[in-house]
Amino acid sequence: RTVQIIGAPTDYGANRRGVDMGPSAIRYAGLADQLRQIGIDVVDGGDIPAPRAEERDPEAETLASGRAKFLRETRQVATRLADRVAETLAAGETPLVLGGDHSVAIGSVTGSARDARVGAVWFDAHGDFNTPATSPSGNVHGMPLAALLGVGEFDGVEWANAVGLDAENVALVGLRDVDGDERRAIRDSPVTAFTMSDIDERGIPAVVDDALDVATVGTDGVHVSLDLDWLDPREAPGVGTPVRGGVTYREAHAALEAVAECDCLRSLELVEVNPILDEHNETAALATELAASALGKQIL
Ligand code: ARG
Ligand code: MN
Ligand code: MN
Ligand code: MN
Repeated sequence: RTVQIIGAPTDYGANRRGVDMGPSAIRYAGLADQLRQIGIDVVDGGDIPAPRAEERDPEAETLASGRAKFLRETRQVATRLADRVAETLAAGETPLVLGGDHSVAIGSVTGSARDARVGAVWFDAHGDFNTPATSPSGNVHGMPLAALLGVGEFDGVEWANAVGLDAENVALVGLRDVDGDERRAIRDSPVTAFTMSDIDERGIPAVVDDALDVATVGTDGVHVSLDLDWLDPREAPGVGTPVRGGVTYREAHAALEAVAECDCLRSLELVEVNPILDEHNETAALATELAASALGKQIL
């Protein structure tokens, strides 16, 4: 297969500066070479243009019923990214999006679900199911799933709603930090949510298998969104919103190997890598390794 790398160097959705350097850090960790070593054709499509952070106005745009910081910038980035992802798929290539904070998923998934029915597997410590009204922070990286599914104030917001994505085909995996009203929204939604407790009880293979079933039933393929804070902060220190008690290095590889085995991957994204908070680029290196597993790297 041919993989096209698309960088989305933004941090408008996050509360800490630095994730905008994620694409550089992941490239520097050797992403393209590692993928070529397993026989993949890699095209680096560069970065989509992003408005300059230092010139932004925090109050520039908010949704009327609540807070969502930098929504105008988020929309610009999402719209450009969606076009790039859709064009990449139309050319028969697999988009590999490098964030950037998790708000870039609004662009990747709307693009991936523009001309097809897609499922989504969301590897994350967080639910990313807040809306401007429920968000404790106003940070859009805590909202992309709600935006894509048209929850609350996102209902009918065309640039953010993913036409080919049904909540029934969304699986969250590894939840361990969910806000009060966000919890209610997840429970009220037809999405399937697997917490860290589910992983404790059933083990990664069974949980990821179920997640992939949810995402593949009646769909043309699966978008995999990997928020690096899914892993335990001991393995992935370079993230803006670390939460104790995440999956281990081996569990993460097993999960992404299951994605490869499913043969259902349509688009992939690696988000929330923050090189400023990282130790010797190890979180970016980990993101690179996990992408290789998702794209078919095997030990033997
Ligand atoms: N739930 C918190 C919020 O809404 C944190 C979200 C973190 N999201 C992420 N993609 N890292 O602000
Ligand atoms: Mn996230
Ligand atoms: Mn997260
Ligand atoms: Mn539905």
